[in-house]
Amino acid sequence: MAQAPQQLIRPMQASDLETVLAWRNHPDVRDFMYTKHEITLAEHTAWFAKASRDAQRHLMIFESNEVPVGFSNLHQIAEGGIADWGFYTAPEAVKGTGRALGKAALEYAFVELGLHKVCGQALAFNQRSIRFHDNLGFQQEGVLRQQHFDGQRYHDVVCFGLLASEWQTNN
Ligand SMILES: CC(C)(COP(=O)(O)OP(=O)(O)OC[C@H]1O[C@@H](n2cnc3c(N)ncnc32)[C@H](O)[C@@H]1OP(=O)(O)O)[C@@H](O)C(=O)NCCC(=O)NCCS
Repeated sequence: MAQAPQQLIRPMQASDLETVLAWRNHPDVRDFMYTKHEITLAEHTAWFAKASRDAQRHLMIFESNEVPVGFSNLHQIAEGGIADWGFYTAPEAVKGTGRALGKAALEYAFVELGLHKVCGQALAFNQRSIRFHDNLGFQQEGVLRQQHFDGQRYHDVVCFGLLASEWQTNN
């Protein structure tokens, strides 16, 4: 029987910058983000430096068998442990990597950070992200109609929320 992969989530470090930038700029990721331009290394480095100084932000790398395969960020946006999250997997990652990353990031959010609620947003055409949130136990909390303009068209944004109590019930 094949051994289960060793998986962990850890803080992002400066040495991860180029790997994460390559994922973020890949069309399989970029096409589902609010900002779609190709990000330069200078822009990416400045983003990382600023986020690293912000105690409300947690940039995380998900590893499988010691190989980085995904990125997630948690951002505390309000008092009482309310956070937004974002995530993407390496474009070459095997199916199911996102789910494992999601579970690890949520465990970090609710156990390590003691957050009360994690909120996600997905562009309405991003069916994989919508399935992903549904599979992880998020509730769909509403649709922001025509909330995102991509330069040519408006897109609805689907809002998701998961409470610590709901997560604990299922884990
Ligand atoms: C979203 C993401 C992290 C999900 O990772 P993943 O779980 O490894 O992705 P999978 O390809 O296994 O798909 C997840 C679910 O979507 C379903 N799915 C995959 N492709 C799909 C498609 N084209 N249409 C509809 N559903 C799809 C899968 O079947 C799976 O659901 P299931 O387990 O119930 O079968 C990953 O696809 C990603 O990084 N996407 C690009 C960046 C992104 O969209 N980030 C989120 C922004 S809100």
